[in-house]
Amino acid sequence: MARRRTLMTALGAALVLSLAACGSDDGGGDSGSGSGGGESAGKVGVILPDTESSVRWENFDRPYLEAAFEDAGVEFDIQNAEGDAQRQATIAEQMITEGATVLAIVNLDSASGAQIQEQASAEGVATIDYDRLTLGGTAEYYVSFDNTVVGELQGQGLAQCLGETTTANIAFLNGSPDDNNATLFAAGAHSVLDPMTNFTKVAEQAVPEWDNQQAATIFEQMYTQAGGNIQGVLAANDGLANSVIQILERNNAAGANNVTGQDATVEGLQNILAGNQCMTVYKSIREEANALAELATALINGEEGETTGTVEDTEAGRDVPSVLLTPVAIFRDNVKDVVDDEFVTAEDLCTGEFADACTELGIE
Ligand code: BGC
Repeated sequence: MARRRTLMTALGAALVLSLAACGSDDGGGDSGSGSGGGESAGKVGVILPDTESSVRWENFDRPYLEAAFEDAGVEFDIQNAEGDAQRQATIAEQMITEGATVLAIVNLDSASGAQIQEQASAEGVATIDYDRLTLGGTAEYYVSFDNTVVGELQGQGLAQCLGETTTANIAFLNGSPDDNNATLFAAGAHSVLDPMTNFTKVAEQAVPEWDNQQAATIFEQMYTQAGGNIQGVLAANDGLANSVIQILERNNAAGANNVTGQDATVEGLQNILAGNQCMTVYKSIREEANALAELATALINGEEGETTGTVEDTEAGRDVPSVLLTPVAIFRDNVKDVVDDEFVTAEDLCTGEFADACTELGIE
């Protein structure tokens, strides 16, 4: 309750924040680092996880983080571990050598993340978990969305799209088994769908590293094994959803509007407009990036950061002070909200075959 921002809706807050983030584009650029004028004594290093598991990291997190740090007047360096935990550790070491005083990571798995944090803290560097909680870690803060709610929205969304009284076979295609968020997404979805006796789970599998190619192979096997008798798919993000849709298309079974997603990517939103995807979950990454910049600034200034509560790290047996933001379910009739929030542009979304749907939905 301490944060004014969390009292507003996610979309409303994102709109307000978008105004605050305007008008500053010094630093950053192609090098992935920059400074907001050198007013602060510290420097923040951020290590994103990869470029493949979701387009969000490079297309959304990086630019929003750059804007947030520039706005906060904090020196920063943003890099990407390219899906390699060893590389993430090496980048962390380099950042510390080059003067980072706060290190934020999106871990690739909890064990490697915890090791990076332990090393950082031995060198007097504070750490923050960005988006994914590092189980057994030592981060000062955790910034994310309520990931159980993300899964609940997906479960409710699938039920709504299939019809809450329809009998259907459903399959779960979960995110990486190494990602604590994926565990929470699945738990949230199960908490909604398991009590609904009209739905029968016929398959469930986690996709290593959220790999989209593997997702297609896994889903194809599920589909074949079930003799094509799958009516709904709980896919954990838009990338996995797109892999499922490709297989359904190959079997002339796409278009039934029965696959979930997450991240509100252009591809995911277009799949919704085409009637191939039921819903996605929009998480205002602008808000998440701003929250990280605020906490990092507080750590640099030796102040206490404002949090919304704590999240339990069951492995370390501690409560991590956290900022948890609110995710929003997006169906065909509110795709426009994502454009109005300036997360994606109508220009990117409403290309070619999607132009008519955009006109129909008043997206311009
Ligand atoms: C993030 C999702 C993302 C997935 C794959 C999760 O930890 O919360 O937004 O789609 O990782 O990168």
